[in-house]
Amino acid sequence: MSGAIESILNETRLFLPPENSAACIASMEQYHALRKRFDADFSGTWGELAEQHIHWRKPFSTVLDDTDAPFFKWFADGEMNVSENCLDRHVDAGFGERTAIIWEGESGEVRQISYAALLSDVCRAANAMRELGVKKGDRVIIYMPMIPEAAVAMLACTRIGATHSVVFGAFSAHALHERIVDAGAKMIVTADGGWRRGKVHALKPSVDMALGEGSNKVEHVMVVRRGGNAVAWQEGRDVEWQQALAGQSDICEPLAVSAEHPMFILYTSGSTGSPKGIVHASGGYLLWSMLTMQWVFDFQTDSDVFWCTADIGWITGHTYSVYGPLACGGTTLMYEGVPTYPDAGRLWKICADHGVTVFYTAPTAIRALIKAGDAWPQQHDLCKLRVLGTVGEPINPEAWIWYRKMIGGERCPIVDTWWQTETGGHMISPLPFATATKPGSACLPLPGVFAEVVDAEGEPVGKGQGGLLVVSKPWPSMLRGIWGDAERYRDTYWNKFGNRYYFAGDGARTDEDGYFWIMGRVDDVLNVAGHRLGTMEIESALVSHPAVAEAAVVGRPDEIKGEAICAFVVLKSGDVESLAGELRQHVTSEIGAIAKPDEIRFTDNLPKTRSGKIMRRLLRDIAAGRDITQDISTLEDHRVIEQLQAQR
Ligand code: WTA
Repeated sequence: MSGAIESILNETRLFLPPENSAACIASMEQYHALRKRFDADFSGTWGELAEQHIHWRKPFSTVLDDTDAPFFKWFADGEMNVSENCLDRHVDAGFGERTAIIWEGESGEVRQISYAALLSDVCRAANAMRELGVKKGDRVIIYMPMIPEAAVAMLACTRIGATHSVVFGAFSAHALHERIVDAGAKMIVTADGGWRRGKVHALKPSVDMALGEGSNKVEHVMVVRRGGNAVAWQEGRDVEWQQALAGQSDICEPLAVSAEHPMFILYTSGSTGSPKGIVHASGGYLLWSMLTMQWVFDFQTDSDVFWCTADIGWITGHTYSVYGPLACGGTTLMYEGVPTYPDAGRLWKICADHGVTVFYTAPTAIRALIKAGDAWPQQHDLCKLRVLGTVGEPINPEAWIWYRKMIGGERCPIVDTWWQTETGGHMISPLPFATATKPGSACLPLPGVFAEVVDAEGEPVGKGQGGLLVVSKPWPSMLRGIWGDAERYRDTYWNKFGNRYYFAGDGARTDEDGYFWIMGRVDDVLNVAGHRLGTMEIESALVSHPAVAEAAVVGRPDEIKGEAICAFVVLKSGDVESLAGELRQHVTSEIGAIAKPDEIRFTDNLPKTRSGKIMRRLLRDIAAGRDITQDISTLEDHRVIEQLQAQR
């Protein structure tokens, strides 16, 4: 990433926002006025917004309960239902015929699902889940391709108060097993398979394998028929989705739950240990998903076609493919397949075919499409686009400029949104019709968000100085904890600054205009193609192979993916030639193909300090092929450097 950071530090271009007086936030005056409202009356402002945006079954009397910080509660005695907010209220308001989801399969088939039709599907799915024994508070794992049934399953869970946990379809059976066990899931919703790169990517076999590993409480597996691939069937446990729904009523009363009711768990990587289950609550999460749709994307529900390309296995897919657009009552697009199938013009073709107006994707995808050439976007009519967004990793200014020019026709503002699984929704981002943007900067904190850059002691650093990114006040869509591990929640996010700040794990600096420039993770978390991976997870996958004695994993800069995975491995036995492939395969089956090392270097020793700590900084330089300028006086055995460098 150092190349990108270098160019970011020298970036001075400024792009003024286009005029749009009808925008949700149309000027910096409006932005500052909204911020001032939060300064003057923090909880009153949140309370008003929550009253306006959420349909409450029972009104709340307290906005923020911080008596047990950092276990904050928002609108806790208020009652509501997420699926009712996403569906029923729009149908009741007369928008039943409006398209909720436009879905395109990889092979080109299209489904348009109206709000009325989606509501009836969700009701039938919710009734089927109930009949299979799922009750309020039960956990349901969703392991699905990007098909509408995935959104139906999520919404059906929220309708009956079940807590869903979506597991990205490319995670391996073993990774799925860990999540099933940790969440104590009672049901899994999956598909036989989905289409990827012209072939069926099977999912059900991974579920069978995961359940075969034992120690789980799963009673039923609902299987959507999509890929048409043959799958094994366990009578009594496995239930065909289409069949189960066919017999159900399309009426299912939404269950009113507390705003604090756990809506979903989403596993993400940290710097230590196994993936952590980030818990989100219902009311606050939904509120922020709606507000950010309006503020950051200027979402117009009667005219926009919104497309967030993220898979529902990630937080971006939760908030901006499903809940945000639907809670607002607008149209969201879902695409099943690979962005470059059958060619590198696929995303632009979909934009043109469906008249996409707001497009949201990851810098990795942009960089890969730049490489594919300008001819692809030029073949498609992108004139309907009006706002472009990016998320997940720092965007290098050159990719930003290309995106603006080639995709946005120099007329669309770009919103570079900084946020995390833990934050539930955007935190720092330009407002498309108010903020003057700088390529590579996420610009300013949103109204209601109090972000700062501080030093290791928690003191704010000056403008232009690098430091740690923190948030100094709670916000409604913040994580409520780590599933089953209150201590880890405190340790990871709050203890560093004695509960004063939420610690995000990112480095940042602000410039003379107060704009934020995100500098990447300061912990041992990698960001590979916008996917978050813990180095320790990959290391433990490697050492679980019988031939491996020790492993250290670091990131190195990669032109397309942002970071690539470089593993340094010490073998107990075996020959280097045959093991590289085997180890990559081993990591794939332990975690998934996204964690497969791009490079494995074998060595007799890892560089360690005299006290036995692996010198990761040094390994990062070696992996990147940089000259070693850092202090290596504490290194125990200097010969190891030469050996590692010679391996390239
Ligand atoms: C990184 C994704 C720079 C950051 C929504 C963060 C970003 C991690 C940006 C969270 C951005 C996200 N600019 N870096 N606009 N957005 N990140 O949990 O390091 O998958 O901590 O959430 O991605 O990744 P996660």
